[in-house]
Amino acid sequence: MIYDFNTIMDRSDNYSAKHDEAAKKFGREDIIPLWIADMDLKTAKPIIDAMIDRANQGMFGYTSRPERYFELVKEWQKKKNNWDVDVNYMSHSTGVMPMMCHFMREFLGKGEKVIVQPPVYSEFFTAVEDWGGELVYNPLEYIDGDYYMDFDDLEAKAKQGAKYLIVCNPHNPVGRVWTKEELTRLGQICLDNGIMVISDEIHSDLILWDNKHIPMASISEEFAKNTMTCISATKTFNLAGLQVSTTVFPTIELKEKYEDVQGRLDSKRNNCFSLVSNMAAYEYGEEWLEQLLTYIEGNIEYIINFCKENIPQIKPNRPDCTYLMWLDCKDLGLEGDDLVDFFINKARLGLNDGRSFGQGGEGYMRLNVACSRLLLEKAMNQLKEAIINK
Ligand SMILES: Cc1ncc(COP(=O)(O)O)c(C=O)c1O
Repeated sequence: MIYDFNTIMDRSDNYSAKHDEAAKKFGREDIIPLWIADMDLKTAKPIIDAMIDRANQGMFGYTSRPERYFELVKEWQKKKNNWDVDVNYMSHSTGVMPMMCHFMREFLGKGEKVIVQPPVYSEFFTAVEDWGGELVYNPLEYIDGDYYMDFDDLEAKAKQGAKYLIVCNPHNPVGRVWTKEELTRLGQICLDNGIMVISDEIHSDLILWDNKHIPMASISEEFAKNTMTCISATKTFNLAGLQVSTTVFPTIELKEKYEDVQGRLDSKRNNCFSLVSNMAAYEYGEEWLEQLLTYIEGNIEYIINFCKENIPQIKPNRPDCTYLMWLDCKDLGLEGDDLVDFFINKARLGLNDGRSFGQGGEGYMRLNVACSRLLLEKAMNQLKEAIINK
């Protein structure tokens, strides 16, 4: 079927964090919220149908996960990424970040180090620090309009010892899909220094144009044994409110230890809607996903062209993946809180402050373009107007 992504969706009765928490976050009611990473777009019909069928059963007791559940994840990874992943290494979680937080709480000692690569998804910072770990920063380098990993710096820091490295693969917010060469170099440095890799691949189904996602653990058997991979259909199919993800562990031993923690926290089961929605997504969601990616590519092109023609002071990136754009606003001549204040109170737009992603985020704003193009047009015209009247 042909999906309509153009209609502006009404989320006023949707208990949406992006909309309902915007006034509190940005301090005013009249902003267009383009921040938190979910979509103002309807998911695939087979997913909605699966949930309606489940709702119509009217019984919502404890849920048993069928074997087919993880087999579908396996088949999806094989088809999309040519990754042969063994279902015996997979485990359920109530989301990538809940998983990472549980993991850090149990398997990171006080003061142990975790390497991260800012500017990067800020919850990595809290997942480490909230549980007593120490962050070590290996900032990305910005060279000729794109971001790269700084391997010399990584090598030096890895030698000083760390327990884990969290790689955002592909990367939020800079939109890089890492190449096999880059991931191999990163993985080898970690192996050489006894650092386990946590590869957050939640954005890996949202690959744009002719880019190719490489699962870290698919590179070699050695890497698979040193990598914990976080995957989820929630970012792909706009199901984040169902709170579910899959972790592929490097060893059965570590998986069992993690599942023991989940058992003690009494959170080892799927809720019934996360179960049926994920199965429908992996089995029947591809047609929707293909159309979605084309629409997102169109939105990205629209933003790039609009800025070039109307507001050259703002330089958007052209992400390889996902629906988050990284806007270089340094030529606006506004710094720190003044830049954020300008977006909120002059342009009346709710974007993420680049500084929240850590080092390298100053002067940037993150824009979520997973919405109707008509809404983006409205937002960009508000921005243009605000810049003219600045
Ligand atoms: C890189 C990354 N990891 C994890 C998450 C959150 O995942 P979950 O909702 O499964 O906790 C996000 C959400 O934006 C993200 O961008």
